[in-house]
Amino acid sequence: MKRVDDFRLRFGKQELVPIVIGGMGVDISTTELALEVARLGGIGHISDALVQAVSDHRYHTKFVSQKLKQYKANVASSDKSGVHFNLGVLEEATRNHVGKTMEAKQGSGMIFVNCMEKLTMNSPRETLRVRLSAALDAGVDGITLSAGLHLGSFALIEDHPRFRDAKLGIIVSSARALALFLRKNARLNRLPDFVVVEGPLAGGHLGFGMDWAQYDLATIMAEVLEFIRTEHLEIPVIAAGGIFTGSDAVGFLEQGAAAVQVATRFTVTRECGLPDKVKQEYFKASENDIEVNTISPTGYPMRMLKGSPGIGDGIRPNCEAYGYLLDAKGNCAYIDAYNREVALHPDVKKLSVRDKTCLCTHMRNFDIWTCGQTTNRLKDTTRKLPDGSYQILSAEQVFTDYQFSTDQKIALPD
Ligand SMILES: Cc1cc2nc3c(=O)[nH]c(=O)nc-3n(C[C@H](O)[C@H](O)[C@H](O)COP(=O)(O)O)c2cc1C
Repeated sequence: MKRVDDFRLRFGKQELVPIVIGGMGVDISTTELALEVARLGGIGHISDALVQAVSDHRYHTKFVSQKLKQYKANVASSDKSGVHFNLGVLEEATRNHVGKTMEAKQGSGMIFVNCMEKLTMNSPRETLRVRLSAALDAGVDGITLSAGLHLGSFALIEDHPRFRDAKLGIIVSSARALALFLRKNARLNRLPDFVVVEGPLAGGHLGFGMDWAQYDLATIMAEVLEFIRTEHLEIPVIAAGGIFTGSDAVGFLEQGAAAVQVATRFTVTRECGLPDKVKQEYFKASENDIEVNTISPTGYPMRMLKGSPGIGDGIRPNCEAYGYLLDAKGNCAYIDAYNREVALHPDVKKLSVRDKTCLCTHMRNFDIWTCGQTTNRLKDTTRKLPDGSYQILSAEQVFTDYQFSTDQKIALPD
């Protein structure tokens, strides 16, 4: 009976345990989690979502309050087109977060940064160029492009000295999206080093519509592997979304995946950035507590626990401090939804906005509890303590369980 440890992910001469922990923004996949995974020989991710806030929290910078101060006069205005990121500050924050993580890295694994295209930051191209280049400058091993088709992202860094040596990959949810990416980037003569195929059971934003339940990862994997074969390409394909046990992972590795990307099982580890109280909510969740909804202003469906405090909350848009979802014209779907409710209920002090959420604020405060479809099984991965709470796991324990388990077994903590 095979185990994940019988397989290896190969990048040139480098061999890794074929387990990737997916990026979980805003600092849910922390530096500590990524470092632990690298130490164990796999690939860990940090995320650059709300990187200025993350830098403040970790490295005591004051980027958020400085930005808010600069744009304070605009707070009551619904026109956010003048609220911009200072590119120098963005670069510094990215270098802080990525650089300090890389300095601490030990072991034979790698650390990548997850970079979401949908963080359009009121100036999509310029801010994305800075985020990508600063991460490369800071020595990141690789970048995973996510939440968007990223058709122009490689070109933004084609002149960077590390463009051909860092590991660059993309997350897709169909062979069609991969084909489009490759076609648009053909002139650069640089294939992605890996492709993550994310199916409909993943956490975070989904690359599917609300008909997500009609798709399944194994079928999409087969289509992508077939496409890669017929095009005579050699790109490692990584399967993601709903892979809960080592045996699930072996199934994909035997199908031809080069590795698996997992996340949900790590949300209840000590190294994960969610507050301990929220980790207990993940443990407690039943299938009925999980939903895919359309409240993210990005336009992508997102999976989360129904009890997330950010659902229905009507906070004033916080773009002067954050503003990561403002499009090139300074619009965000939450601002429209909020303004509509203000106009409908001019006398109400505490508004409720049900159709969209202020995602920056609520992700920053861990009030949108995004999760994978398998979250209801987390309680089976640990022990219940005498006080009724669940025992938090270590990242090492979950990682080695994926690596060595067989027969769909999950080893409980000591
Ligand atoms: C809490 C949470 C947050 C996530 N945030 C992101 C993110 O910021 N960017 C991204 O590309 N994927 C995100 N994901 C998706 C994961 O990186 C990963 O591909 C997926 O969840 C794997 O499936 P699994 O959770 O069933 O193991 C997130 C997943 C979870 C559970």
